[in-house]
Amino acid sequence: MGFHSGHQSHRFVLRAGTMEQHLALEAAVGPLNSLPAYTRYLRGLQAFRTPLERQLAAVAIPPALSPVRPIPLAELVVQDRADLGDHVPVWEETASLSLSPSALFGVFYVLEGSTLGARLLHKQAGQLGLGAAHGARHLAEQISSPETWKQFVGVLDAADDLNMDEAVVAANAVFGAAERALARQDDAEYSNRGPDEL
Ligand code: HEM
Repeated sequence: MGFHSGHQSHRFVLRAGTMEQHLALEAAVGPLNSLPAYTRYLRGLQAFRTPLERQLAAVAIPPALSPVRPIPLAELVVQDRADLGDHVPVWEETASLSLSPSALFGVFYVLEGSTLGARLLHKQAGQLGLGAAHGARHLAEQISSPETWKQFVGVLDAADDLNMDEAVVAANAVFGAAERALARQDDAEYSNRGPDEL
């Protein structure tokens, strides 16, 4: 593997340090077994991806991370929602983050890692009749280049001078924002759903 002996794989440190948050997020997403469930997931995803991708576009990315920048998805999510006739504005959920180089490794870990879960979600969306041409463009995009995850893990594990505490804190902040964005879709007080949809 691409990391020096004597230190534990950075990837596994991140995985162990965020496992609880990943499970909480999975539970917040729930099974995408109906169009309303899928629409809710899209809204949550847009609510957390839009501000995060804006933050990332405005920050200097460490040279090691430049070749493994996660693909921005928010625009595709908006198109997926449009396919389904869902146009209500969503409230953005901004992760409170340091964007130090070590933190960026943690943020990229979450965004790149989400392509793994996307394989499952893509299958579920397929059962709802959705795909690259209609409603699940962002998932088709996420699963289109499986080698990117391996490439990212290679960069992560080869990185020197990483502050893993900072990376884990940042990764959990991203997971937390995603979970809150999803949970908010159920909260009538904050949601933007019309009265007929509540
Ligand atoms: C219901 C929704 C989700 C499910 C069912 C799910 C499921 C999974 C599964 C099965 C894996 C492991 C895949 C493998 O090892 O081949 C995985 C990995 C991962 N997922 Fe998710 N996921 C979901 C949502 C998300 C979201 C929304 C994010 C980020 C915003 C995310 C971030 C990650 C990360 C970072 C990993 C890599 C963990 C590692 O280091 O191995 N997941 N997910």
